[in-house]
Amino acid sequence: MQTIGRLGGERGRSGGAGASGGSRGAVRPAGGSKRPGASGSAGNPFKTSRQPLRDPDFYDENYTDERDTTEVPGGDRLQKVLAQAGVASRRACEEMIGDGRVSVDGQTVRRFGARVDPAKQIIRVDGKRIPTSSETVYYALNKPIGVVSTMDDPDGRPCLNDYVQDLAPRLFHVGRLDTETEGLLLLTNDGELAHRLTHPSYGVQKKYWAKVPGPVARDLHKVLRKGVELEDGLAKVDEFRVVQEHGQQALVEVILHEGRKHIVRRLMETVGHRVIDLARIEFGPVKLGRLKPGTIRTLTVQEIGDLYAAVGL
Ligand code: URA
Repeated sequence: MQTIGRLGGERGRSGGAGASGGSRGAVRPAGGSKRPGASGSAGNPFKTSRQPLRDPDFYDENYTDERDTTEVPGGDRLQKVLAQAGVASRRACEEMIGDGRVSVDGQTVRRFGARVDPAKQIIRVDGKRIPTSSETVYYALNKPIGVVSTMDDPDGRPCLNDYVQDLAPRLFHVGRLDTETEGLLLLTNDGELAHRLTHPSYGVQKKYWAKVPGPVARDLHKVLRKGVELEDGLAKVDEFRVVQEHGQQALVEVILHEGRKHIVRRLMETVGHRVIDLARIEFGPVKLGRLKPGTIRTLTVQEIGDLYAAVGL
């Protein structure tokens, strides 16, 4: 996006030796049948709900903690799943697990070498969900002006498929941008996430920059926040500000959480500022940044976690 002139342009402890299971009188499991800490916790109901750290040299490879309902025999090692998802190195992920920062299906898992099913279980680090299924993909595209926001165009105009065709089957675009609007468009095959991100009830904010004729009245933000009557009902912004003003043109920022068709253009026109150029620069926690028009990038693990959090997943 251009500025006016066009548009504004690890912590601590490891999960290994010295684990708390030992200090709590762990019994060496014979053939994988005994649980660490079991003898020491007798009579103390609280201790049984804690998950001991596992010492890789002490417990045999196939040992399973029977108290832990998240364990999936034959599943993938938790630290490997986290590392493959891009969270951090395996070693760093082991430390996160040991520090109690990782949960599986809502249960904190501290065991060394826990096995999970990344396609079925919900894994979080510091409360934030991690995309662990190798089948789901998440992209940000800077849609150029002139490209239709559909996967296919019967009239042969440039469309999204021209940018994503080889990336994954069944990719959805999260919402739409007008053909004449450029900017951030999210694409994913995670149907539930896509649905929530576009559903007005989740209130995910979108940020736009619009080039409009100036000057802009100083109190316009109050008018727009209060709401403007459009032909299909009241529309209001969450935030509005003037980014730059130069003579007869202004660059304004509009933040709103609804997705009605042409909403920014209609709003601005109703208050006397017909949009000249429009770009979406943020979608919830994801920013367009320096992504050039017509280019696409994979979302980071952090961004995906933030998107999940934004819609309560
Ligand atoms: N509002 C508009 O007017 N157009 C878009 O493409 C997106 C929001």
